[in-house]
Amino acid sequence: MILLNPGPVCTSERVRNSLLKGDICHRESEFSTILSNTRNKILQVFAPNGGYVTAIITGSGTASLEAGICSSVSEGRKILIINNGVYGERISRIASAYKIDKVELKYDWLERPDINQIEDAILQDTEIEVVSMVHHETTTGLINPIHEVGAITKKHNKTLFLDSVSGLGGEEIDLANDNVDICIGTANKCIQGLPGLSFVLLKKEEVQRLRSIPPRSLYLNVISQLDEQEQKGECPFTPSVHTFYAFEEALDELLEESVLGRINRYKKASSYLRKEFKRLGLELLLPEEFLSNTITALSLPNNMTYVHLHDSLKERGFIIYAGQGLLNKTIFRIANMGELTMNDLEAFIANLEEVIDGR
Ligand SMILES: Cc1ncc(COP(=O)(O)O)c(C=O)c1O
Repeated sequence: MILLNPGPVCTSERVRNSLLKGDICHRESEFSTILSNTRNKILQVFAPNGGYVTAIITGSGTASLEAGICSSVSEGRKILIINNGVYGERISRIASAYKIDKVELKYDWLERPDINQIEDAILQDTEIEVVSMVHHETTTGLINPIHEVGAITKKHNKTLFLDSVSGLGGEEIDLANDNVDICIGTANKCIQGLPGLSFVLLKKEEVQRLRSIPPRSLYLNVISQLDEQEQKGECPFTPSVHTFYAFEEALDELLEESVLGRINRYKKASSYLRKEFKRLGLELLLPEEFLSNTITALSLPNNMTYVHLHDSLKERGFIIYAGQGLLNKTIFRIANMGELTMNDLEAFIANLEEVIDGR
């Protein structure tokens, strides 16, 4: 199957084969070495100039998001949530689940947030401590303005919390320059590892602040995860050992390809797909200047349901992805993350054309 959903993505044989390295005990030095190597490689890829630490959490992207949120807002302070999609909404639901006070700036899913409104919201409420935003809204493929928001949070001395679960590895970002204090990533999207591991990148200056916040969760606590990983070379609870093999291998591949190389490969793939979608008369949901390098949301072809389109393409070996929420009946999404060749994409377009033409 060629996976054109935004994760878990198609992985290389090298990543899949790494699972067979063998069974080891997570309390032995062999695992400590893998843990330390993997953490160092995350930092090498995403914080090459230093200034950040990282903790890897066994759990999908949402686990690290929960850990990041419930560990970073002090009692009696608030989180400002910039919400323009399903994943902005998820941050809001996490804050509610932990009974963290929040201020929400809600936008239409096809809209970018208004920078002046964000600054006004910060100025109006001195209890706001953390400002959260999604880097790449996977709902629509929209890239949010990190650099501009980072400049504002820095100016007002707020913590910028970024969900880059579908961004890291596929989009340009410079954590230090963009003033990102806490950033969440996952192994199985643009990093091209396997599902089951996610991570929190934390600016070194934030560690002391987080340390002063009483834990709201035993498992999903950034400081206890970080301390155990840094000081003892272990994870506090049983980690998904074999998934670590695959994560380290995927990071090696990314280092070999370079982040820029990967971004360029994804850019080439999405430009090809978007040109072909237009040729086939499919309408892009968002203006191209808003779009990420990896997701294209499209209106369904005339007189065709998503189920028909999905099932016909699945029979031919391609997995596409539905719209979410309100967009569920009207759009579909194509992701070009992962180990995909131009031949795969050309074959997909040929099959898509046949299905649209009813052949
Ligand atoms: C932007 C974003 N944040 C968070 C998540 C949640 O990740 P997971 O499904 O791995 O828990 C996703 C998943 O697609 C995502 O795209």
